[in-house]
Amino acid sequence: MSEKKPRLRGALEGIPTYKPGRPAAAGPAGYKLSSNENPYPPLPGVLETMTSAAGGANRYPDMACTGLMEAVAERFDVPVEHVATGTGSVGVAQQLLQCTAGPGDEVIYAWRSFEAYPIITQISGAASVQVPLTDAEEHDLDAMADAVTDRTRLIFVCNPNNPTGVAVPGAALERFLDRVPDDVLVVLDEAYREFVRDERVVDGLRLYRDRPNVCVLRTFSKAYGLAGLRVGFAVAHEPVAAALRKTAVPFGVSQIAQDAAVASLRSEAELLERVEALVAERARVSRELTAQGWTVPESQANFVWLRLGDRTSDFAAACERAGAMIRPFPGEGVRVSVGETEGNDIFLQTAAAFRKSEF
Ligand SMILES: Cc1ncc(COP(=O)(O)O)c(C=O)c1O
Repeated sequence: MSEKKPRLRGALEGIPTYKPGRPAAAGPAGYKLSSNENPYPPLPGVLETMTSAAGGANRYPDMACTGLMEAVAERFDVPVEHVATGTGSVGVAQQLLQCTAGPGDEVIYAWRSFEAYPIITQISGAASVQVPLTDAEEHDLDAMADAVTDRTRLIFVCNPNNPTGVAVPGAALERFLDRVPDDVLVVLDEAYREFVRDERVVDGLRLYRDRPNVCVLRTFSKAYGLAGLRVGFAVAHEPVAAALRKTAVPFGVSQIAQDAAVASLRSEAELLERVEALVAERARVSRELTAQGWTVPESQANFVWLRLGDRTSDFAAACERAGAMIRPFPGEGVRVSVGETEGNDIFLQTAAAFRKSEF
């Protein structure tokens, strides 16, 4: 065999690997609170649509996602030309980097934030500029605006932020947007938008309308419960949306995903009732943790964050032993998704016991 190997792009060296949330342990007591998934399975009507689309799996899907684009445009009252779909919102985020950034360019985002940002930025060849969250786990928008240089091409604002759950208030976001040069794309990643209850947090779709450099990312994975199907979308003004359509993987979004997403939009009221139940459960979990003595940043998403520092891995191991898989960020903290009541209870009981033994 030849000693020579195919030459790969140097930019790929040292890319951190994406750590998916670990699955629940086998058995009845296993709960997966590690991936911010929706614990509810698809609605029966949505499942029926998926089954029917599966019957046509010998055909390629509608490459232009026509029905889905129209349904999104109608639901969110935006021109259809402003919509671009993709393989999950992370797929769309990666396309946004393909559209805007390459070697020599810079991409700014808060840190810690969604762990895909450093990976997809490095793949693009651009450099990451990570701006630490404040002590209150908030985006430091002033520092992020100060970090803009003439090499900056894209800025992610994860709102609410994964993994801390903290959201950026609208007034602060608008002040920040006013400071960012018009030729820098600001991506408002609103994967958890439907879980936001703080009225000070503005819907990005309101902000994008008169700002051609703002792009809003949304997903069907969280509130709509279709994480396994991989479908998300962006709303942006036409040059950006058109560039996204150019960079889309041909036939990337399956017909099952397209049809299920359209069916979910039609069943939105029912799905949003489930979101309401999860928001109530989030309030219960946060309240109980606070009563136990933990400092819990106010989450506007479907998870909570505990900054545990060097006790992070021990805490995650204790949860795992008790039957709940959570997401540790070693040395920093744990992110725990709001899931089934029983799983949340296991987490809460473990947190109470851990506090008594460790503090
Ligand atoms: C902030 C944020 N953005 C985007 C995504 C990706 O979602 P998807 O690719 O499933 O749409 C996630 C998933 O965890 C996320 O937390």
